[in-house]
Amino acid sequence: MNKVMVINGPNLNLLGTREPEMYGSNTLEQINDSMNRLASSLDMELTFYQSDIEGEIIDQLHKAGRDCDGVIINPAGYSHTSVAILDAIKSISIPVVEVHLSNIYKREEFRRKSITGSGALGVISGFGKTGYHLAMRALRERFDEK
Ligand code: DQA
Repeated sequence: MNKVMVINGPNLNLLGTREPEMYGSNTLEQINDSMNRLASSLDMELTFYQSDIEGEIIDQLHKAGRDCDGVIINPAGYSHTSVAILDAIKSISIPVVEVHLSNIYKREEFRRKSITGSGALGVISGFGKTGYHLAMRALRERFDEK
């Protein structure tokens, strides 16, 4: 059983009502439930964390580095601004997969670059909640390669 921490950044607690045409109609809880349903078939145990606060996200990355085998993170708006979250991703030795619900490359110029994504194993963008499931499958394959 591999332990994976799922970290969602600012404003993602408002999924479901926040710009549904952009981010879909599922709430974060519904997305988390759908991940939990997949987890058992992938022999994974998930821990979910959401915060609007950069330092708290960094603390959780450090904790995941100690306690978990992998991380799935949607740093949300911090993706485009946070060198500190990038540094935290780079300071842990477990694989990190970054997810974006929307396709950031088809959006405003300032969203087209993910600073944090440059520290991740890979970035999945534009598949809505399916992106989180794809990230789980990518980590499963990564764990199996070891
Ligand atoms: C997002 C994309 C970001 O640009 C935005 O700030 C978010 C959500 C996504 O999942 O598509 O909050 O990370």
